Amino acid sequence: MKNDIKKYFAENISDYLKQEKERKELARNSLLTEALKDYMAPMRGRTELNILEVGGASGVLLKDLVDLGATPVVAWNLEIVEEYRNYLVDKRIRFINASIFGNSLTTGYFDFVICRYGLHHFVGDTVSKTIESQKEALREMARLVKPGGILVIEEELMERDYASFCLYFLSRLFARFGLQLKRFGINRGVMVFFHTKKGIFGLLDKQNIKYSIIEEIYPKVRAGFVNRALFLFQKSYPGIFIFRIDK
Ligand SMILES: C[S@@+](CC[C@H](N)C(=O)[O-])C[C@H]1O[C@@H](n2cnc3c(N)ncnc32)[C@H](O)[C@@H]1O
Repeated sequence: MKNDIKKYFAENISDYLKQEKERKELARNSLLTEALKDYMAPMRGRTELNILEVGGASGVLLKDLVDLGATPVVAWNLEIVEEYRNYLVDKRIRFINASIFGNSLTTGYFDFVICRYGLHHFVGDTVSKTIESQKEALREMARLVKPGGILVIEEELMERDYASFCLYFLSRLFARFGLQLKRFGINRGVMVFFHTKKGIFGLLDKQNIKYSIIEEIYPKVRAGFVNRALFLFQKSYPGIFIFRIDK
């Protein structure tokens, strides 16, 4: 089996940049940027805020956050694909070419850690290895947040568990035989595991992460045919979870 996400994103960088460009206007006005503005407001007066995006690609979200301008933001992009360094949308973004797994970043350094549409890519060869790797990624993200700081997870959510499993096994099968159905978002060598909302919270349970959920946002997006087909005609919907990492 071959889940080679690094290779996939490196090879398909132009497709991804095109998608990002289309999403850029959305991101600018996105509920996430607006919400984070509110959480940044009480921190006004601080000399700077350190914001880390895990898997930030070309940095469209980080740019929006830097542009908010209320408090000086130092934006960091922890990105496994080195090529994105050349496509960063803003020179102020600091690029770290590394994986969330085995990173050597300083514990408690960041005021905000954000992972947008990254979690479903942290998969393993079995369901239990997948859950372990997603849990490990969340532990790492929580470790990097300053006590009292914010962790943001944005993901496409499934309505039913079976859709999560079917999609995972389908993507595994396609990866096994090197197949892809690009139009339906099934890409060569990329395995995915999307969760239900309950599944996301399950990943945080019994993890020794002290957190409280402070906001849940469900942007209203009407999924097109391709997305609905990809998610097996289950209703899927984007969810943004904002957690405070407690001291
Ligand atoms: C679906 S894209 C999301 C990009 C961006 N966050 C957004 O919302 O547009 C996932 C990104 O995560 C990166 N990535 C995948 N695995 C990673 C890892 N282990 N550590 C850091 N980044 C990773 C990929 O290279 C890719 O840029």
